[in-house]
Amino acid sequence: MAEADIPVERLTRDEAAAELARLAEMIARANIAYHAEDAPEMSDADFDALKRRNSAIEARFPDLKRSDSPSEQVGAGPAEGFAKVRHAVRMLSLANAFDEADVQDFDDGIRKYLGLGADAPLAYTAEPKIDGLSLSLRYEAGRLVHAATRGDGETGENVTANALTVGDIPATLRDAPDVLEVRGEVYMSHADFEALNARQAAAGEKTFANPRNAAAGSLRQLDAAITRSRPLRFFAYAWGEVSEPLADTQMEAIARLGRLGFATNPLTALCDGPVALLDRYRLIEDRRATLGYDIDGVVYKVDALYLQRRLGFRSTTPRWAIAHKFPAELAWTRLERIEIQVGRTGALSPVARLTPVTVGGVVVSNATLHNEDYIAGRDARGQPIRGGKDIREGDWVQVYRAGDVIPKVADVDLSRRPETAVPYTFRDTCPECGSDAVREEGDSVRRCTGGLICPAQAVEKLKHFVSRAAFDIEGLGAKQVEQFYRDGWVREPADIFTLRDRYGDGNLTQLKNREGWGEKSAANLFAAIDEKRRIPMGRMIFALGIRHVGEVAAADLARHFGSWTALEQVVDAAMPAAAAHRRAEAAVLAEQGAARTEGRRARITEARETTWQGADVPPGARAAWDDLTAIDGIGATVALSLVDAFSQEAERASMRRLVAHLEIVPPDRPAEESPVAGKTVVFTGTLEKMTRAEAKARAEALGAKVSGSVSAKTDLLVAGPGAGSKAKKAAELGVETIDEDGWLALIGEG
Ligand code: IVH
Repeated sequence: MAEADIPVERLTRDEAAAELARLAEMIARANIAYHAEDAPEMSDADFDALKRRNSAIEARFPDLKRSDSPSEQVGAGPAEGFAKVRHAVRMLSLANAFDEADVQDFDDGIRKYLGLGADAPLAYTAEPKIDGLSLSLRYEAGRLVHAATRGDGETGENVTANALTVGDIPATLRDAPDVLEVRGEVYMSHADFEALNARQAAAGEKTFANPRNAAAGSLRQLDAAITRSRPLRFFAYAWGEVSEPLADTQMEAIARLGRLGFATNPLTALCDGPVALLDRYRLIEDRRATLGYDIDGVVYKVDALYLQRRLGFRSTTPRWAIAHKFPAELAWTRLERIEIQVGRTGALSPVARLTPVTVGGVVVSNATLHNEDYIAGRDARGQPIRGGKDIREGDWVQVYRAGDVIPKVADVDLSRRPETAVPYTFRDTCPECGSDAVREEGDSVRRCTGGLICPAQAVEKLKHFVSRAAFDIEGLGAKQVEQFYRDGWVREPADIFTLRDRYGDGNLTQLKNREGWGEKSAANLFAAIDEKRRIPMGRMIFALGIRHVGEVAAADLARHFGSWTALEQVVDAAMPAAAAHRRAEAAVLAEQGAARTEGRRARITEARETTWQGADVPPGARAAWDDLTAIDGIGATVALSLVDAFSQEAERASMRRLVAHLEIVPPDRPAEESPVAGKTVVFTGTLEKMTRAEAKARAEALGAKVSGSVSAKTDLLVAGPGAGSKAKKAAELGVETIDEDGWLALIGEG
C-alpha cells in the first residue's frame, strides 16, 4: 500500500517521513498553481484535505516536522523560514566607487589587468543601481523552477511562490536557453509604497521605513497571498547559469532578456570610457527624483562578455563591474554621549549616542567614531582632520550613511558647542574587565589586554564564531550566544558542541525548559549544531577570529595547507622566526623613538631582512616562515598574528578543545582534474598574452598555488622573455621550465 493510502494512525515512522515529504511537495505545487499561475490544479476541498493530513501526521510525529512544513506557511511569522536553494553560480555583490577618481581607477585597473593600452577601445554599460533586493530566477525548459533570494551568495531562500505573484516575472519563457538563470532586483515604486503604508496604517499594522524594506518584507512572506497583495516589480540586469550564451555583449544580453519578456531598465546605455560613464552618471542623477523608484547609484559593467570572462572575480565581487554610489545623505544632530565598546580583538571602539535623526529615510541613533585620534581631530599620521576640530559630548555633529554601512560622524559645528563641553579623554582601562587598555606603537587602536578573561572579548569572539561567514549555526545568533555566555553555558566555541550532552534530554536544567526555548527549537538547535561538526577548513580558520585573518586569508591558508595539522605544524615551527621579526621591529622603533616617519615601514622591513643573517634563527624556522609568507596574500602581518594566537597557551588550549569536536574538511579542489591542480607555479619574465595578475588568478582558479620565488618546492616555472635569476635557479634545482605558450597549451587554452 502506498503511504498516501495509509490512515495516519497506522503509519510507521519511516512511512510518515516519506508522506510528509510528499505532502510538502504537493502542497507547494498546488500553491504555485493557485497563487502564482492562476491555474489551480485541485479543488479547495482536496487542498484542505492534504493540509489536514499533513497536520495530523505532524501531531503524531512532532519531531518529523519539516523545516518547509506546509502547516507553517500560512499566517505563521517568517521566523520558521523558507527552504534553502543553493545557487548554481554564486550571487555576488559589487565593489563601490564614490568619486570620479575611483571611476578612473576602475578603468585603469581593468586596462592593466587585461594588458590594454590607454588608447585601446574599451566599452562599458551604465545603468541605474536599483535599491531593492536581488533575486535569481531559474528557468528550465522555459519554465520557472525556482526563485531564490541572494542569502549569503551561495545559498538563498526559496521564494518561488512569491516571485510568481510579481507581474514583471514570467512563469514561462519562449525561445529561452534550456537552462537560464535571470538575475535582477525586486523593488517597490514610490506610489505603491505610499499606498501600502497608508493601507497598513489604516489597518493598524506596521508601516515600512522605506520602499526597500517594504519590498523585502513583502517578498519574504511565507504566505504568497500577502505578497500578491503588495505590488512588487522586477528589473532584470544579469544572469547566472545559462546552457548557451545569451549574446556577445552585456548590452545585447540585456536586450535579449527584454525580448524574453523581462523588464530591463530603459536608462541602460553603452559608453566608450570613463568620460562617457560620468556623463551618464550625471544624467541618471538628474533624473533620480522623477524616476518613481529608489536608486542609489549607477552600475558600470565591461560590455564585451569575453572580457568579463577574462577579468573574472575577486572573492566576492566581479572585476568587470563597479557601483558608483550617489553621495551619502547628511543630517545634523546632537551627540549625547560617547560610549566605548570592546570588540573581539579587544579593540576599544568609541560609539556616538545621538539624538535620533532621520538620514535618507532611516532613523539613526548611533554612529561610529573610529578611534581616539578621530575624536581628537587627527589622522593616523598626526595630521589634522576636520580642520583639527575635536568631538565632544554635547556637540552638534553631522552624520552620514554611505550604503549599508554603519553611520559615521563627518563634522562638528563649533558655533553650537555648549560652554560646558570638555575635550574627551580616552580611557586607558577596559570598561568591561578593568584590564589595562594599551595602544601599541603604530596602531591607531587601544586594546584591552584581558584576552579571554575579558567578557566582552569572549562574547564578541563567540558571536564572530557563529556568524554567517563562520559556523553559521541556525538558531544560534548573537542574542542566544549572549544569553548562553551570561548563564555560563557557553564560554568558548568548544562548549557549543557539548551543549546537547550538558543541557539536552535527560538533564534537569534542560534547554527546552528555558524561557524563549521549547522542545522543538531546542531539538532544532542541537541538530543545527550537529550539522556543523563537519566544517570546511577555511570557515573554521576564519571562525577563530584571529586578528588580520579575514575570510580571504583564511581561505588562502586552507587552500595552501589542506589540513589543520599541517597548518599547526608550520605555525609552530615559524615561532622563532616570528620572534626575530618582532625583535627587529622593536629595535627600529627604539632607534627612532616614537617619531612617525615615512621611511619607518621600509626600515622595519630592511631590519627584518638582516635578522635572518643573525645566527639565532634555526633554518627550519626560517623555512616555515617563508612557507607561510610565500602564500599570496599572506604577509608578515598575518603571519605574526597567527603565530601570536597559536603561542598564547589559553587560546591554543581553547582551539584544541574545539578541534576535538570537529571534522575539518579540506577545501574543494574545484579543478582536481586540471593538470596544474596542487602544483606550485612561478611566473617570471614578460608575459605577452596575459598580464601577470590574470595569469595568477587563472592558475589559482585551476587549483595551482602561485608563488613569487623559486625553491625546491616549485613544480613549474613559466618563463617569458627576459627571465633572469629565477630561471637560473630553476635550472639549478631541476625545476621544469616552460614558456607562455607551453603554459597555455598545458591549461587547455593554447
Ligand atoms: S549587477 C555580478 N546591476 O546591487 C554582479 N546589481 O551592491 C551582479 N543591484 O547585489 C550585480 N542594481 O542586488 C547589478 N543594475 C544593477 C543593479 C545591481 C542593483 C544590486 C544587486 C547587487 C548589489 C551590489
